[in-house]
Amino acid sequence: MSATSPKPRPGILDIAPYVAGKSSARAGVRVVKLSANETPLGASPKAKTAFIEAAETLHRYPDGSAAPLRAAIGEAYNIPAEQIVCGAGSDELIGLLIHAYAGAGDEVLMSRHGFLMYKIYAQGFGVTTAFAPEKNLRCDVDALLASVTPRTKIVFIANPNNHTGSYVTKAELKRLHAGLRPDIVLAVDAAYSEYIDPKALPDYSDGSELVAGSGNVVVLHTFSKIYGLSALRLGFAYAPASICDMLGRIRGPFNVATPALMAGIAAVRDQSFIEQTRAFNTKWLAFMSKEIAALGLKVHPSIANFVLVEFPGGKHSAASANAYLAEQGLIVRDVVAYGLPDCLRITIGLEEDNKAVLQCLRAFLDS
Ligand SMILES: Cc1ncc(COP(=O)(O)O)c(C=O)c1O
Repeated sequence: MSATSPKPRPGILDIAPYVAGKSSARAGVRVVKLSANETPLGASPKAKTAFIEAAETLHRYPDGSAAPLRAAIGEAYNIPAEQIVCGAGSDELIGLLIHAYAGAGDEVLMSRHGFLMYKIYAQGFGVTTAFAPEKNLRCDVDALLASVTPRTKIVFIANPNNHTGSYVTKAELKRLHAGLRPDIVLAVDAAYSEYIDPKALPDYSDGSELVAGSGNVVVLHTFSKIYGLSALRLGFAYAPASICDMLGRIRGPFNVATPALMAGIAAVRDQSFIEQTRAFNTKWLAFMSKEIAALGLKVHPSIANFVLVEFPGGKHSAASANAYLAEQGLIVRDVVAYGLPDCLRITIGLEEDNKAVLQCLRAFLDS
């Protein structure tokens, strides 16, 4: 940068850009991408048809109100459509929340191993990020509450959390909310919530019961995970009317593209496809958690669509396991940037991919 070139605002150059899950391997090897928590089952066939139909209206601007999509989401999630704001991925909504509620000199608060986009967006707006310590890679509500300062504007909690797969219970979430000043936004990022069967895990909540009756709770959802629409960039926030109003003021007028709107409607209406995907994940998450542990590796308990695996170090470090898996085209996620250099995060894949990971890990540990 020369002395006369445009200067970014202070702090922008400090941002370490988000590193997405890798998707390539050495030439000639079949790539199995298990690094970005995408669903191996793809999107609902109905969503794909809707996406193709959107081609007919590509010359028109999208419906900026996203009203039909919000109505479909409202019906599926049993929440009021007028309290939903759609975004280009939940990433956009994270950024909009910080833009609306925090500025230079303010703080957002997150758990030590929370999702790094909270910090990255905060830095972009000149907002400081504070981290609360965790216990056993699990968000600690008391530590979060103890870390609140007069400058705290937003508390972000991913439930379940990426990259750990752990969760806080409905009661803990309620306690967190009760302990926060009402002028602090509590943002519950429920990107993986659809993977959880409420009957199997009744103490889990995405926080939506806290939205009604509070003025400060926002629940974020994405179509990138169980809905299989990562490429389209679609997410939504369920929030009190006043917060929806703020997000509506600062979002782009056409922030969600028509193919995303149309595919999103079809995807959210096809809940039987989602149930199948959930059942598939439940089966293979349990299988992978058990089988990887049987290899002698520590598997942190996960309720999402990935497992966090801890390696013993030395010859069998996470970095060498990562390289060994990559040699076979098995691309998983290193989580060094999250302060977990001994771990790898592995997305649940198709049956043959899961078994290939196991076989490869076994060979690695025998090597
Ligand atoms: C916890 C969490 N929140 C948000 C996102 C971003 O989702 P989107 O693709 O909707 O921007 C991710 C993606 O990995 C995530 O893991």
